[in-house]
This record gives sequence, structure tokens and C-alpha cells, in this order.
Amino acid sequence: MTVLVGFSSKYGATEGIAERIARKLREAGRDAVARPVASVERPADYDAFVLGSAVYMGSWRKEATEFVRENLAALAGKPVWLFSSGPLGIEAKDAEGRDKLKEAEPKQFEEFGEALSPRGRQVFFGALDPSVLGRRDRLVRRIPSGRELLPEGDFRDWAAIDEWAAGIAEELAAG
Ligand SMILES: Cc1cc2nc3c(=O)[nH]c(=O)nc-3n(C[C@H](O)[C@H](O)[C@H](O)COP(=O)(O)O)c2cc1C
Repeated sequence: MTVLVGFSSKYGATEGIAERIARKLREAGRDAVARPVASVERPADYDAFVLGSAVYMGSWRKEATEFVRENLAALAGKPVWLFSSGPLGIEAKDAEGRDKLKEAEPKQFEEFGEALSPRGRQVFFGALDPSVLGRRDRLVRRIPSGRELLPEGDFRDWAAIDEWAAGIAEELAAG
């Protein structure tokens, strides 16, 4: 059984999470590969899917959303997990006391929840390096409170990512 960890990453943070999940699955004895969704030619060849995207303006990136929509038939009936790399910062709660990871759930979790009945849906803290941002993304950070909402730094929680991957490995081993 081969697990596809398919991802869409604009600046590399989500790619790092996907690579880590694939590595953890391999360490647990699963055959797993991390691939950008745009490069996956025959999704039907995989037996299980862990699919994730960076979140921009509350949404997965287009190529990730399209990958799932276009391959619903290949995914249906197989084990699927969804993840996002989204919020930035170290606080678990936002200024209003709401759970940041919960608030950062992309709309695709709802859209694909029904079609795929994923076994898990998880948001992870992401990373942002202002020096590599494209022009439009840099401008977004310049709006009032932009820097507060999108602070610089690598906030990826490797312990949480490892734990989630270990749970997937266990479920796959259980069949
Ligand atoms: C312009 C801009 C908009 C963003 N919008 C969101 C958002 O709506 N929700 C969120 O959780 N994170 C948002 N982020 C944070 C990114 O999702 C985070 O930096 C992510 O880890 C980037 O992954 P990538 O390097 O794989 O593209 C935004 C970042 C930028 C630069």
C-alpha cells in the first residue's frame, strides 16, 4: 500500500510539513511519498491520501482544491486525511479568546467533509519569511494589523505534526 502525501505550498512551509508526515509514515513502516499535487499523474495508483495546502485568505490554494475536486472518484472509498498550514504566531488563542487552529480551518474542510468523509482534518501552524513574499502578499502584510495577523517566523509545531502522522500510521496498520 502506498500513501500519497499530496501538498500545495507557495513558499515551502507546507512542503516541509508534508515531507515530515511522509517521513514519519515511512519510519512507521508505511510506503509513503510526498508530492506536489500538481505533479501527481495517476492518483488512482495510491491506496491512501494525506492531502494538504497552505491557507491564503481562508482558503486552500487553487491547485489543491482542484486536485481533490477532479479526483473525487479516485479518492472516494479510500482512507483520506486533510491538513492545512495556516495561522502564524505562538498563541493558541486569538485576541477574542477563540482557538486559533479552529478559526483557521479552511472552507475546503467543510466542502470535502461530505464528499470524502475524511478520517482526520487538521490545521497546523505555518511559517512566514517576509523576504521571499511576492509583491501582492507583501502588500497584504502592509494593511493595518497585517503584521500582527501575519507575523514573521517559523511556527510549525513538529511535535503536533509527528503525533498526527503517528495516528495515521496506526490507523493504516489497523486496516
Ligand atoms: C498574504 C497572506 C495571507 C494569508 N492568509 C492566511 C489565512 O487566511 N489563514 C491562515 O491561517 N494563514 C494565512 N496565511 C499564512 C500562511 O498560510 C502560512 O504562512 C503558511 O504556512 C504558508 O505556507 P507555504 O509556505 O507552504 O505557502 C497567510 C499568509 C500570507 C502571506
